[in-house]
Amino acid sequence: MERKFFVGGNWKMNGDKKFINELVECLKKCPIEQSVEVVVAPPTIYLDYTKSIVPQNVQVAAQNSYKVAKGAFTGEISPAMIKDIGIDWVIIGHSERRNVFGENDNLIAEKVAHALETGLSVIACIGEKLEEREAGQTEAVVFQQVKAIAGKIGEWKNVVIAYEPVWAIGTGKTATPQQAQEVHQKLREYIKKEISEKVAKEIRIIYGGSVTGANAKELAKEKDIDGFLVGGASLKPEFIDIIKANK
Ligand code: G3H
Repeated sequence: MERKFFVGGNWKMNGDKKFINELVECLKKCPIEQSVEVVVAPPTIYLDYTKSIVPQNVQVAAQNSYKVAKGAFTGEISPAMIKDIGIDWVIIGHSERRNVFGENDNLIAEKVAHALETGLSVIACIGEKLEEREAGQTEAVVFQQVKAIAGKIGEWKNVVIAYEPVWAIGTGKTATPQQAQEVHQKLREYIKKEISEKVAKEIRIIYGGSVTGANAKELAKEKDIDGFLVGGASLKPEFIDIIKANK
C-alpha cells in the first residue's frame, strides 16, 4: 500500500480569529492534490472555529489530549471531547509537551492508547535532544519512545509517527535530508523487527524541525520521509509550498 504524503501544520500557541481567517483563506486558494493529506492543529480554543471554516480537503487536529475520557483534570481536554466537535486527529508527545511540560514516555503512550481507543488518529511525536545526538544516543532514544507506545497499543493503522529532533525545532537548524532519512530508515527497520513488516511498510514517518518552503522538496525526495510536521512555516503562506513538496 502506497503511503499517502502527509503534511501537518502545528500552529502551537499562535494565532487569533483574524489570523486564522487569513491563513484559511490562503489554504483555500491552494489546489491540494488528492495524493496529499493536510491536517492543521490550532490552539484548543480555536479547534471548533477552525473546523467550521477550513475547506473539505483540510483536516484539523488537536495539539494534545489526556489519557481518560473525563474527570477532575483541570485544564485538560479528552479525546471524547475532540471527537464530539467532529475532529479526528490529535498530536501527542510533541517535544514541547515532553520538555516544557514534563510528559514522559509512559504518559505519552497512555495518551496515544486512549486517543486511539476513542477513535482518533494520532500524530505521535518522538525525537532526540542535541546532547543525546552528540552522545550517539539518537537511535536508542527514538527506539525507546516507539517501544513505550508499542507497549500500550496493538493497532498502528491510525498512527503517524513524527520524527522531530529537538535540536531542529524552531531553531532554523533543519536536519539534512540524509540525517533525517537515516533516522527514518532505522525507525522503519526497528518497527519491522519489533512490531511487524506490515506496520513498517504502511506507517507514515514524517519529519519535523525547521521545515520551510525552501527545504521541503529535498527532504521529501528521501524514500522514508512521508511528509512533515511543520511549526513556524505553517503560519506563513510558504506552508502551501510544503504541501506541494511531494512532486
Ligand atoms: O510541530 C512542529 C515542530 O515542532 C517543528 O516546529 O517547524 O517551527 O521547527 P518548527
